[in-house]
Amino acid sequence: MGSTSDWDVMQHVARQLKDFDVAYEARALSAHRTPDVLIEWLEGLEKQGAQCFIAGAGGAAHLAGVVASKTTLPVLGVPMPSKHLQGLDSLLSIVQMPKGIPVATFAIGDAGAANAGLFAVAMLALNDPALAKKLTAFRVKQAEAVKSAKLPELS
Ligand code: RP5
Repeated sequence: MGSTSDWDVMQHVARQLKDFDVAYEARALSAHRTPDVLIEWLEGLEKQGAQCFIAGAGGAAHLAGVVASKTTLPVLGVPMPSKHLQGLDSLLSIVQMPKGIPVATFAIGDAGAANAGLFAVAMLALNDPALAKKLTAFRVKQAEAVKSAKLPELS
């Protein structure tokens, strides 16, 4: 993520990955403030066998695009809700990538972060039957919770 201030949202990515026992590394590194450290870290992760990158950033959110410019692994972008434009700036910065360097872009905020984690799980599950089984079980449990939800009685 671009800043430690993004963790409140990006913890929802980490939560999903942890719940599915998917190994991950989380760091706050900025495309603007610490570009050299960012690239060094990315290159190291690729060598260690990383399968994808999830980049959360806000405002003039270049992080996901910069990451995508340095790797051919899938890059998932999560727009942070921002103070002045409520994340619309982040969303447009991440989603409007020029042709040739794709970033899969998710919803602004907590739901987008959680879904980016779940999407990463789905990608990894393509080559991991045990993980695919867990993902199916998660969906079944989620559907059961919706089906059994009770609405409050009117008094
Ligand atoms: C972006 O600037 C970060 O991703 C963060 O969302 C935003 C504000 O960062 P801080 O000023 O809180 O560090 O690069």
